[in-house]
Amino acid sequence: MKIYLDTANLDEIRELADLIDGVTTNPSLVAKEGRPFWDLLAEICRLVPGPVSAEVAALDVEGMVRQARELAKVADNVVIKIPMGLAGVRATKRLAAEGISTNVTLVFSPTQALLAAKAGATYVSPFVGRIDDRAGDGMELVAQILEIYSNYGFATQLIVASVRHVRHVVEAALLGAPIATVPYRVVRQLFDHPLTDLGIERFLADWKRAAG
Ligand code: E4P
Repeated sequence: MKIYLDTANLDEIRELADLIDGVTTNPSLVAKEGRPFWDLLAEICRLVPGPVSAEVAALDVEGMVRQARELAKVADNVVIKIPMGLAGVRATKRLAAEGISTNVTLVFSPTQALLAAKAGATYVSPFVGRIDDRAGDGMELVAQILEIYSNYGFATQLIVASVRHVRHVVEAALLGAPIATVPYRVVRQLFDHPLTDLGIERFLADWKRAAG
């Protein structure tokens, strides 16, 4: 499973750039950084060789397509995040015809994922954490989308998004999701285990004793 970093923070991206497969941003993550958007996006694309998702702010088809074309000029690895909906699906279809990669975001149902794939989306992002926050089952949605995509051989890749904790990453991998986009705090936790720390501590202490 590929792991993307869900952040627009340059320090976080620099620290993990060699180990992650891509980055996803959204307007809220960009706003937190307090830097000019276009410079920030260009810098992220320079640091990360993999795909970098950047979202359009328009709500109409023409506006989305116009903004997408501008964003796509920033770097070859930019992927255009398009909010799900009637306009979003139309814009996705237009962009697919132009060869511009898209990530249909804010997906909360299997039919939304089906329509995004039919429109030629490169990626689709179901938000598992936001579903779980409302006592739903985000991973059930992931399983349904994977089954639908497999039924019809869609090339659209599913990105498990709105990841809240390590368990979400484990469940995504168990379901065979191709990608999960994970916040920095959770990515760091993937590397750690208290028994690993304890084991290292003991080995070092024993090594010191053995070495006299
Ligand atoms: C995905 O691409 C989004 O940036 C992200 O996962 C949203 O997660 P949130 O629900 O934590 O805002």
